[in-house]
Amino acid sequence: MERTDTIFIELLNEEQAKTELERLAKEIHRHDELYYANDAPELSDSEYDKLRQRNLAIEERFPHLVREDSPSTRVGFEISTHFEKIQHRTPLLSLDNAFTEEDVHDFITRARRFLGLSTDEPVEVVAEPKIDGLSASLTYENGRFTQGATRGDGAVGENITPNLRTIKDIPAQSHIELPPLVEIRGEVYMRHDDFMALNKSREIANEAIFANPRNAAAGSVRQLDSNITAQRPLKFFAYSSDEIGQFNVSTHWEFLEHLKQAGFQVNPYARLCKNAEELLAYYHELEEKRASLEYDIDGIVYKLNRIDWQQRMGHSARAPRWAVAHKFPAEKATTRLNSITIQVGRRGTLTPVAELEPITVGGVVVSRATLHNEDEIQRKDVRVGDTVLIQRAGDVIPQVLKSIPEKRPADSKPFEFPTTCPVCGSHAVHHKDEVARKCTGGLICEAQSALRLRHFVSRDAFDIEGLGNKHIEAFFKEGLIQSPADLFTLQERDKTSLTPLRNKEGWGSQSAQKLFEAIGKRRSIPLYRFIYALGIPQVGIATSKLLANRYGNYTDWSTAMRRSHERDSEAYTDLIDIDGIGDSMAEDLADFFNEPHNVQVLNDLLAQVTVEDAKKVQTIDSPISGMTVVFTGTLQSMSRQEAKVRAEKLGAKVSGSVSKKTDYVIVGADAGSKAKKAQELGVKVMPEDDWVEFSS
Ligand code: IVH
Repeated sequence: MERTDTIFIELLNEEQAKTELERLAKEIHRHDELYYANDAPELSDSEYDKLRQRNLAIEERFPHLVREDSPSTRVGFEISTHFEKIQHRTPLLSLDNAFTEEDVHDFITRARRFLGLSTDEPVEVVAEPKIDGLSASLTYENGRFTQGATRGDGAVGENITPNLRTIKDIPAQSHIELPPLVEIRGEVYMRHDDFMALNKSREIANEAIFANPRNAAAGSVRQLDSNITAQRPLKFFAYSSDEIGQFNVSTHWEFLEHLKQAGFQVNPYARLCKNAEELLAYYHELEEKRASLEYDIDGIVYKLNRIDWQQRMGHSARAPRWAVAHKFPAEKATTRLNSITIQVGRRGTLTPVAELEPITVGGVVVSRATLHNEDEIQRKDVRVGDTVLIQRAGDVIPQVLKSIPEKRPADSKPFEFPTTCPVCGSHAVHHKDEVARKCTGGLICEAQSALRLRHFVSRDAFDIEGLGNKHIEAFFKEGLIQSPADLFTLQERDKTSLTPLRNKEGWGSQSAQKLFEAIGKRRSIPLYRFIYALGIPQVGIATSKLLANRYGNYTDWSTAMRRSHERDSEAYTDLIDIDGIGDSMAEDLADFFNEPHNVQVLNDLLAQVTVEDAKKVQTIDSPISGMTVVFTGTLQSMSRQEAKVRAEKLGAKVSGSVSKKTDYVIVGADAGSKAKKAQELGVKVMPEDDWVEFSS
């Protein structure tokens, strides 16, 4: 197999990306095992992080190649950097579950039997909401908070002390005396309103949003930089301890009171119940309240009140025998699907949304749900008019689980997914390897414009100094700049504007003048920056350079891209021949130029700026000047990258595939099909050693 770990991300073609993602998944898994299971890491944290970052960056470039066992999905939102490990003084146990009323009666009966109680002996139980967050254990030494850890696998957690110190609900010093060395345990969580505000600000900053408050809390508490955690609105409820016996109390109820006096937050809904009936009444009461609570709960925890009984019952390897979690059923409901609308994301992804006959699910009125993507609608055969089963799983957006075919109207038809963007009317394309259909009108589509404009002025693109993301968003909202060309007419329009820029909030004469000058400086721009600035999907800075070097000037490049729309054209073959450009990227390039709206935007822009031709690479006159060469197999003596640069310096063109036009195929170790093809076509083959000698 070809070695892919040394190739720059932006130069990976699809095949190589696939190989590399597979390698990274295996490698990261191996290091996780070494770290977590064997306690014998081979890599430093930063080396390990680099692997993960590379994996993520490749996935970002090739979203359709994301593996099912991808390391990035395995840990979800959690930041995967290693924290110091901490052995809990006693394990953080899990809870056994009760699902039915019978299970709750059984719990009480089991306790009675275990403790040998007579049937008329009252058994008090404390019922508490089961908070849907993540548990943490806080060590207090002589009343002072000294260390805090995640649950981890129950026995060993991670040291996140500085992060936990930022949470106001966690007292640095107990208000009353605590046992000299004790762990206080509880749940870190985020309130709904805080969660929504956090997601909103992340959306504005173009950061990935969290699916639910639990993920947001988990992601926030496992940050390497506690300054970030400090900005996150985290809360904490305390509910247990490793050594409840050391507290001077005889019941859990008194223990909770003690925690309150010590300065902890204890859930205000906790209730002392006298029998199973009272527990069940409480359960139903909270099930009703659930939707209007300020945070997520996923059930009720019942705990025997008497601590001596708790201690007698003890625990199994997994969970205490004196407590049980009574789970709420998943919030599901059926309703009619009235229509399917299409939303366009800031990156042009078309997402189908189910417009539902409003229905209450777990106390919340739901009128919209996500249908994920085009393939999902097809797979589930969801049709307008269907009765559908929906679910709220604590996530922000409810989901359509399935349609109920028996209730389908006789005249229903499969849903036809639109092939144009509902926002801007541009073609919306669905590449075979991708899940989502995407709008190709990136530069004009209102749904995407603000993000594209930000990209357009960014450092590697037009690099306009003094024009930050906030300005762009504001200009866009005001309608001042909608398309890239508008940037270059800004100064002219400003002269006749009712409120010139210098009078706008956050601006003054000097800063306005500086901005105009910065824009003016970019009226002439190198071809590769221009290409990159267009924000064509998958076309990063390295690819832009490849294209600029290959085509040399704007006219040749754009003509070739337009011609590439015909997949059997010479232009298309030439394009995918470039080492580092695969089918998927070539399709995105061709799609971009096939969209008339984009061409219009380009023409407007070209009326304002001059695109400089690519500088010719300084080449030496050599026997391979003007020839086309292909590298294959693993080169032992230099990286692919270096080999390529050397070949280009010698005046050769490096291509990714062997054809009749190829002059030389340079073969490294384990060369496969390309070497074979060269033989078949009678193309000259050069062994690596000869190449080294030749190119040195
Ligand atoms: S008591 C030995 N009380 O539920 C006592 N746990 O499924 C064990 N949880 O890992 C925990 N709210 O993260 C307890 N009021 C509550 C809880 C609670 C949420 C979580 C906790 C635990 C999980 C067990």
